[in-house]
Amino acid sequence: MRRHLIKRFCLAFGPRLPRIWLILCPVSVVVLIVLSASSSSSLNSVTLTVKPDIYANYRRLKNQAVNDYLDLSSLSVGVSKLKEIKICGKEREHYVPCYNVSANLLTGFKYGDEFDRHCEVSKGESYCLVRPPKDYKTPLTWPVGRDVIWNENVKITKDQFLSSGSMTKRLMLMEENQISFYSDDGVKDYSHQVAEMIGLGNDVGFHQAGVRTVLDIGCGFGSFGAHLLSLKLMTVCMAAYELTGSQVQISLERGLPAIIGNFNSRQLPFPYLSYDMVHCAECGILWDEKDGLFLIEADRILKPGGYFVLHGSSLSTKKGSMASPIEEFAQKICWTFIAQQEETFIWQKTIDPQCYLSSIQGVVPPCREEREDTQAYYQPLASCVGGTTSKRWIPIQKRNSSSQITSAELKIYGIQQDEFDEDFESSLSALKNYWSLLTPLIFSDHPKRPGDEDPLPPYNMIRNVMDMNARYGGFNAAFLKEGKAVWVMNVVPIRARDTLPVIFDQGFAGVLHDWCEPFPTYPRTYDMLHANGLLSYLISEQCSITNLLLEMDRILRPEGWVVLSDEMGPIEKARSIATQIRWEARVIDLENGSDQRILVCQKPFVRR
Ligand SMILES: *[C@@H]1O[C@H](CO)[C@@H](O)[C@H](O)[C@H]1NC(C)=O
Ligand SMILES: *[C@@H]1O[C@H](CO)[C@@H](O)[C@H](O)[C@H]1NC(C)=O
Ligand SMILES: *[C@@H]1O[C@H](CO)[C@@H](O)[C@H](O)[C@H]1NC(C)=O
Repeated sequence: MRRHLIKRFCLAFGPRLPRIWLILCPVSVVVLIVLSASSSSSLNSVTLTVKPDIYANYRRLKNQAVNDYLDLSSLSVGVSKLKEIKICGKEREHYVPCYNVSANLLTGFKYGDEFDRHCEVSKGESYCLVRPPKDYKTPLTWPVGRDVIWNENVKITKDQFLSSGSMTKRLMLMEENQISFYSDDGVKDYSHQVAEMIGLGNDVGFHQAGVRTVLDIGCGFGSFGAHLLSLKLMTVCMAAYELTGSQVQISLERGLPAIIGNFNSRQLPFPYLSYDMVHCAECGILWDEKDGLFLIEADRILKPGGYFVLHGSSLSTKKGSMASPIEEFAQKICWTFIAQQEETFIWQKTIDPQCYLSSIQGVVPPCREEREDTQAYYQPLASCVGGTTSKRWIPIQKRNSSSQITSAELKIYGIQQDEFDEDFESSLSALKNYWSLLTPLIFSDHPKRPGDEDPLPPYNMIRNVMDMNARYGGFNAAFLKEGKAVWVMNVVPIRARDTLPVIFDQGFAGVLHDWCEPFPTYPRTYDMLHANGLLSYLISEQCSITNLLLEMDRILRPEGWVVLSDEMGPIEKARSIATQIRWEARVIDLENGSDQRILVCQKPFVRR
């Protein structure tokens, strides 16, 4: 792999490239580069109070007119009014909006709900630019960065380090300023054990058994996921927000897929029938509490025939085994108990939707209202079984073992084959174009990274990628096709068409998200953010573009990249905000006379 990268490096970057190369480079559509001027600004501090109006469209138009007026007047006000957004204090180095526990408690949330996501509570918090800790260092490149991270980049105490779960503790070593993760045989043995328990020869067979996507709840520091990823299983770590020693922050720092997710009183931001396996090793969730609501939620996101794997020392030591109250409930949701070995228990979700209608004593009924759950976004946990009448009720074992999606499968989602292919083809050509745009910025006028003799080419710095408006996952597929060592978080905006099922079925990571709100991740966790058509969509939804860009700045690593593709108006608006956020920004014009523009930005590495 590394040799492969080096070879590509020589091909692409052999000579130091002068800036003029950008203009001459063989990019098919890119012709004109407009350096961002810093003369315009937008008056973000002005809030408008438009009276409620029953004619929604009219209101929208009216707002639009006011916005346009503001943009115009801000141009005429000129540079003097240009307001740079202020830098946050040290206390916000690891700031995640919507998880202010003390504010949640003050608001009256309790019984664990105070640890949940409450964006409405945090809404009043002033915005500012989150800056890295004083000794922050650029993460090591993949795959070295998977096994060694910088101590100062994450928030972890010595005590926490020592008390971390037994399975992970063995694998971590804190040295002077680094934390090393050793992939010891324990994780491999465990993975083999799980594979054997579900009747496979070894863990290479997961794919044939239809297992491609795994949700690893409470993932430790991601070592199990790292092993499964090496077997080409998309494993996403999910854990609650943690102030220090965060499993999600450390996993992402290692370049492993992860997201903050709470299992307390609301559903997870995934549609039903999403994952092939849900895994919990000492994940801290009391599955037998709340009348099995957590198990029903696990059932909701599992595909038919999918596996629920539970591992924990507390399970087998309790009298008779704690699995028994869980087992009792598992029967009510039609799960089959497959096997137990030592401290590991495995159940399988039924493939028969009729099971929920059967006469098993106290069986949990199917949900009455079967909307295709596009809006399943932090809804209250439900006490009914979802997805039973869905066309997507297809047992994982019946799927083709290749990740290639078939037109029969597409038909189930109501997607035309040519529409799907077009998404991939245009993403592929877009990716090739973007990739060549990312390099000159760093090789020409961009300052070297502090302490770095020789800046590395950007693809080495790009590991965690987010497609903020992922559609069918074409951008992710393009990355794979190009052989880039990245993973992509495919985000489908709520109220847009819910294409997550087709994303999951390609073995990709994905999540529903409302971009009017902050994203559930830690600062500095993504290397590249891409969004095609998101700005114009959000403007039509009346979300604040300023807040969106500030949020993007928070979750971007220093020197991370932003690529926005949209119509000229929204792009110009974003460019002026990008200037306020101090990003380096360039607007790319497409030659063919279309209204489309591309905004390429790089977040600077600023020391406090
Ligand atoms: C959290 O909320 C408390 C109480 O409202 C507030 O004082 C504090 O500044 C908030 N923390 C952050 C990081 O915004
Ligand atoms: C699996 O692929 C084969 C050949 O590509 C096809 O004939 C078959 O219908 C597919 N099965 C499903 C369940 O899509
Ligand atoms: C211009 O090119 C872009 C990118 O290839 C394409 O999406 C767009 O439809 C084209 N516009 C026109 C007017 O041809």
